[in-house]
Amino acid sequence: SRSVRLAVIPGDGIGPEVVAEGLKVLDAVSGELTFERTEYDLGAARWHRTGETLPDSVLEELRQQDVILLGAVGDPTVPSGTLERGLLLRARFELDHYVNLRPVKLFPGVATPLAGVTTDDIDMVVVREGTEGPYTGVGGVLRKGTRHEVATQESVNTAYGVERVIRYAFEVAASRPRKHLTLVHKDNVLTFAGDLYQRVLKRVAEEYPQVTTAYCHVDAATMFFVSQPRRFDVIVTDNLFGDIITDLGAAVAGGIGLAASGNVNPDRTAPSMFEPVHGSAPDIAGQRKADPTATILSVAMLLDHIGEGDAARRVERAVSDDLAERAAFGERSTSQIGDAIAKRVSG
Ligand code: NAD
Ligand code: IPM
Ligand code: MN
Repeated sequence: SRSVRLAVIPGDGIGPEVVAEGLKVLDAVSGELTFERTEYDLGAARWHRTGETLPDSVLEELRQQDVILLGAVGDPTVPSGTLERGLLLRARFELDHYVNLRPVKLFPGVATPLAGVTTDDIDMVVVREGTEGPYTGVGGVLRKGTRHEVATQESVNTAYGVERVIRYAFEVAASRPRKHLTLVHKDNVLTFAGDLYQRVLKRVAEEYPQVTTAYCHVDAATMFFVSQPRRFDVIVTDNLFGDIITDLGAAVAGGIGLAASGNVNPDRTAPSMFEPVHGSAPDIAGQRKADPTATILSVAMLLDHIGEGDAARRVERAVSDDLAERAAFGERSTSQIGDAIAKRVSG
């Protein structure tokens, strides 16, 4: 039997609530697989206690793991950005998660706010760049607090970073039936970064004659997500645009409670990290009403990543079956949903 080292970072707010259900399903599907779990108490409580977000020693321990499952981080009692940058983004950057993989898929029976769309219309994969763009923290503030304060926040885009994420997106596109890749950017205004993405896309496209490509400005893309989601199959986009359009993607595909993601290091030089797209939802934390489905689907992505495709398919099928009947269930608590999906997985 195979043993996998799994780091678990439950985090803040609803993070621990949804992670518990993800682990429940993981246990149900494991079979011959054994997960050697290590839980890390990172997040708001740790920061309040020690001032630490992601200490070097913990980062080095994380590097020794095979894969990471994260709930969410961020809390109203901690200055905004402290945990987001110090913990989440630090992990993504240090572990070289240059692909932030975010499927946007409407499952059968799930209600979408869009009129007249079917499951065929909303089935895309957003390949969001994960280590560059406006997220690097390059920039600063001058004359803070004065009327002449200047805040800059640079977008960093390297030929190396852009090429590797675009290559990954072509591979994803080539593996899908429609084989269509759309670059989403804003090259009419962000001319330096947009032009770099465009040129690299054109160059790499020559190696993938079977993949058709298109370009869409990000503002128009938000419109088409709502008016014509079928336009999109695979999208490759910068870190910030990818953040924004995947919340929109979640909304059109049945809600943020269903949206899964993976922070992937495709070169496997460090463990990848799987997490729901949503945050710590302080507005509903502790109320047992967080939907754990996004985390459970992230667990399926995790299983795929470690080469356990059969187990991943079983989890996806259990989720899909649960979603198809969900309308009939009425209100269910976080753990009731987790129990139901875990039961389908084992039975
Ligand atoms: P959020 O995703 O936490 O919440 C947005 C809305 O969606 C809220 O009304 C919330 O109740 C609802 N929601 C989220 N997840 C849900 C679920 N599983 N089931 C049902 N409803 C759900 O985003 P926010 O309010 O903008 O941010 C809250 C905090 O989370 C902030 O500190 C933010 O920085 C952080 N955050 C963290 C991550 C992450 O760890 N990956 C992602 C996004 C936001
Ligand atoms: C997400 C979140 C994060 C992001 C924040 C919390 C840093 O919104 O995972 O989508 O912007 O990437
Ligand atoms: Mn986000």
